Amino acid sequence: SLSTLGTTSIEDVKATNPHGRNWFQLYVMKDRDISYGLVERAAKAGFDTLFFTVDTPVAGNRMRDTRHGFSIPPQLTAKTVLDAIPRPWWWIDFLTTPPLEFASLTSTGGTVGEMLDSAMDPTINYKDLEIIREMWPGKISVKGVQNVEDAKTLADLGVDSVVLSNHGGRQLDRAPVPFQLLPEVVREVGGDMEILVDTGIMNGADIVAAMALGADFTLVGRAYLYGLMAGGREGVDRTISILRSQIERTMKLLQVTSLEELGPQHVTQLSRFNRIDPSLSSLGK
Ligand SMILES: Cc1cc2nc3c(=O)[nH]c(=O)nc-3n(C[C@H](O)[C@H](O)[C@H](O)COP(=O)(O)O)c2cc1C
Repeated sequence: SLSTLGTTSIEDVKATNPHGRNWFQLYVMKDRDISYGLVERAAKAGFDTLFFTVDTPVAGNRMRDTRHGFSIPPQLTAKTVLDAIPRPWWWIDFLTTPPLEFASLTSTGGTVGEMLDSAMDPTINYKDLEIIREMWPGKISVKGVQNVEDAKTLADLGVDSVVLSNHGGRQLDRAPVPFQLLPEVVREVGGDMEILVDTGIMNGADIVAAMALGADFTLVGRAYLYGLMAGGREGVDRTISILRSQIERTMKLLQVTSLEELGPQHVTQLSRFNRIDPSLSSLGK
């Protein structure tokens, strides 16, 4: 899925992957025309699914970005230069690859958080979803759902899927763990739409567990980025092959031969993660 903040344009993704399925992730911005323009371009390029992200009214407090002076485009600070002196490959990459910049948005030259804060509209609501749905011919998935009530409302509105996600913990880092919400959401609305989940998936066994609790499929964020950082395209391929082998090994150890055979009985650890019973708080426990 190509992000609104991606460094590659919608058209370049389409040209590179003309026959595969391309998805686009949308941030609805204060300047609606920018967002609508992206939706139109993605539709024109034949992208088939739109992720409508709803958990980013403002950026999370990304202290490390600020501390490290991370900005887009990157600035060569004295500290970066010092860090990079003993790393010749970093210099070769830096000097031979295209500059890092947003393909669909104009950069403010600040951190990603600062950019999000100035561009995002914290007032987006169901009306915006309605407008985008009118414009979008393909499937629509709402990404960043964090409670059962919202999932129910979205099922009533007829979206194709929701992504239970807390943005990998990058927004409100005390937000509910999506994996914990999964059983209840699947029970309430699993028959009405697809239920996807991400956040914290670092091992194929995490994917097996999510599928066993009724997720239709899962997404990964950091796992593929770690592969990308370590080895470029081959690193991402390697991430996928590691996840695949972990899925297969876990399934063999569980003695299941197909995803359909997986069920909640295979997730024996769930009770460890159960949310605290709210009635306990009134007892002061
Ligand atoms: C570096 C980074 C950039 C991200 N950018 C976006 C984004 O532009 N749009 C979005 O909807 N989610 C974004 N996310 C969140 C991911 O889509 C995903 O929800 C999250 O990473 C899943 O958790 P995981 O990293 O534990 O797999 C980003 C995550 C990371 C780590």
